Amino acid sequence: MADNTFTSLRTVEWKNNKVIMIDQTKLPNQLVFVEYDDFNQVADAIRTLVVRGAPAIGVSGAFGLALAGLQSKATTKDQLISDLEKAKKILFETRPTAVNLGWGLEKIMNVAISGTTVEQIKQSIISESKKMAEEDIEINKTMGKNGSVLFDNNDTIMTHCNAGALATVAYGTALGVIRATRESGKNVKVIATETRPVQQGSRLTAFELKHDGFDVSLIPDTAVGYSMANGLVDKVIVGADRIVKTGHVFNKIGTYQVAVMAKQHGIPFYVAAPLSTFDMKSNHEDVIIEMRNGTEVTGIGDKKTAPDDINVINPAFDMTPPELISGIITEKGVAKPPYEESIKKLFQAN
Ligand code: MRU
Repeated sequence: MADNTFTSLRTVEWKNNKVIMIDQTKLPNQLVFVEYDDFNQVADAIRTLVVRGAPAIGVSGAFGLALAGLQSKATTKDQLISDLEKAKKILFETRPTAVNLGWGLEKIMNVAISGTTVEQIKQSIISESKKMAEEDIEINKTMGKNGSVLFDNNDTIMTHCNAGALATVAYGTALGVIRATRESGKNVKVIATETRPVQQGSRLTAFELKHDGFDVSLIPDTAVGYSMANGLVDKVIVGADRIVKTGHVFNKIGTYQVAVMAKQHGIPFYVAAPLSTFDMKSNHEDVIIEMRNGTEVTGIGDKKTAPDDINVINPAFDMTPPELISGIITEKGVAKPPYEESIKKLFQAN
């Protein structure tokens, strides 16, 4: 483990046959990079939120499989594919809601299956996962440009959770749009919700926006209504973990109540996500919402904030229905209601 000087936020990277990640559980107090050479370590990192955010875990899963390739002692293609399938299962089962994880793993498996020799497959899955990481940044930048036209000079933009550089390889989805809006010459302010229980808003969004010189104000989740009712918010933008073909958006717990409140106050509510976050096969009723450990709710960090043996309900995500969403920003353009039609068009343009 190394405590490096921070230059730019590169959340996850492949270097010298190792996966390097920012340990997000240590932010904002310490910027620590961890190095992994075993896919099981990558699986643990995803499970324990060392790395989190849908696109970041998609690329991390891909890097995990590339490590599994290097770890394999297989001498035939069939043996190697079997080792990769086992690793894929372990990586896939870490978190159920973000569709990018399965997408990234599937993409790497397809490259492996179409390969020829053991050595060629090992190298090609490394190259493919590195390419995915680079593409993630390019996609975020394009998405940012597409979304920036929806925001005006002097807007104050509310965001929930962290859909920034730290949730992707770099640049971010929702925060990428905010970055691109500023790069287009507009002045914007940001309101970040704290995002209990794991506090991605205060620990990560506030950290990365402050680092990049944005005017950012932190609010407790309970102040969303107050902020909107008192005219402090012009627009809202969030990321997504999964979007189904009807435009139902799964994102960090609390997103739904922010969207309801935005509707109540006539404030546009936007979602920014790459096409890899869309799940065109599932119905919204079938999406599994990850339930996390109650200790995330009964304490903050090491401090206990609830009585012993209390029952806890701790869903990590919720669903925002399409009627609350003003537009879904992607690298292929902005989908507007009716979503079933506009989302289909995005994929046809692909
Ligand atoms: O539990 P997390 O921190 O992985 O949840 C992350 C989110 O909900 C983000 O908003 C989402 O992944 C979009 S990231 C670009």
